[in-house]
Amino acid sequence: MIPVCEPALDGRELEYVRDCIETSWISSAGKYINLFEEKFAAYCGARYGIACSSGTTAIHLAMVALGIGPGDEVIIPDFTLIVSANMVVLAGAKPVLVDVDKRTWCLDPELIESKITDRTKAIMAVHMYGHPCDMTAITKIARKHNLFVIEDCAEAHGAEVNGVKVGCISDVACFSFYGNKILTTGEGGMLTCNDEFIAKRIRLLCNQGFQEPRFVHSVLGFNYRLTNVQAAIGLAQTEMAESKVEKKRWIGQKYNELLADWPHLTLPVEEPWARNVYWMYGVLVNDSFGLSKDQLMSELKSRGVDTRSFFCPMSLQPVFNGSDPRFPDATGDCPVSVDLWNRGLYLPSGLPLTQEDIETVVDKIKECKN
Ligand SMILES: Cc1ncc(COP(=O)(O)O)c(C=O)c1O
Repeated sequence: MIPVCEPALDGRELEYVRDCIETSWISSAGKYINLFEEKFAAYCGARYGIACSSGTTAIHLAMVALGIGPGDEVIIPDFTLIVSANMVVLAGAKPVLVDVDKRTWCLDPELIESKITDRTKAIMAVHMYGHPCDMTAITKIARKHNLFVIEDCAEAHGAEVNGVKVGCISDVACFSFYGNKILTTGEGGMLTCNDEFIAKRIRLLCNQGFQEPRFVHSVLGFNYRLTNVQAAIGLAQTEMAESKVEKKRWIGQKYNELLADWPHLTLPVEEPWARNVYWMYGVLVNDSFGLSKDQLMSELKSRGVDTRSFFCPMSLQPVFNGSDPRFPDATGDCPVSVDLWNRGLYLPSGLPLTQEDIETVVDKIKECKN
């Protein structure tokens, strides 16, 4: 089976982890935390990096640090992982769903303004499957309406908008280092930002609100800390960030070349202003294929090729059917995200993939057409 994704631990991970164990610095203090934060923030071109336990907790910290809470609304894409909506709800605010652009699969800036109300506090720009959002347009709207912008960069380490890396084009950006991410710590996350006040607040919230004098707390904090062992892995990964991103781009380009003249799949794009890092190589199954997305996925599985479905839109999530006023309204006006759910899947995209693997995947896809 060609797996859909595998991590590549091919740098100094073992050496650094061994150091943690030999020196007994295995908890959430230790030199690798600072080194990882500094190195990763520098890679993104951000002034501050605050490590935390996951991409999910990073988003929750962003919400709380920006003061988003009950009565507030946050614009999120309908097409995203459910984490985006859940963390807004957990903060006590209400996610407001906006459809995505049919080329980039990211939040469509043209549709944002009609969803802004006097309760809107922030726009969450989720960079999907490695392609960045149109941050130029989103930033312009946010400035006009005095809104925060939060980037969700979980799937887009190293992606760029007009030559500027994601992670520093917003008030605060959230990264995941889950096992299938371009850089991984197994589980883990980081927030990056350029504002010292926000950075300090995030650090405080991430660490139970510990201040001086110790055990006297003035904020409601969380234990969302990363361990030194995870940070050791993260540092080794970050040292190889650019070669990992380039490998992802190479995988994307190989698929593009091999599938370019084949009309039965819609391929991902790279807008002229963007650097797509192809975290996962997503495709849409066209009608002419003659198979549904689910049928193609199961045909490929029986031929030894693992795939994953695209995300189910927030507007179709059963969990949000209830009457909780914080739940997003399923307005039925997000046809692009519903189409992506119906037709989208991603192909094997792991860093260890070889040219032969990619050729095999493409051959198997073409075999399924007959
Ligand atoms: C877009 C997006 N946001 C947030 C997350 C959450 O990250 P984590 O799994 O580290 O909590 C993920 C992936 O897992 C994701 O794909």
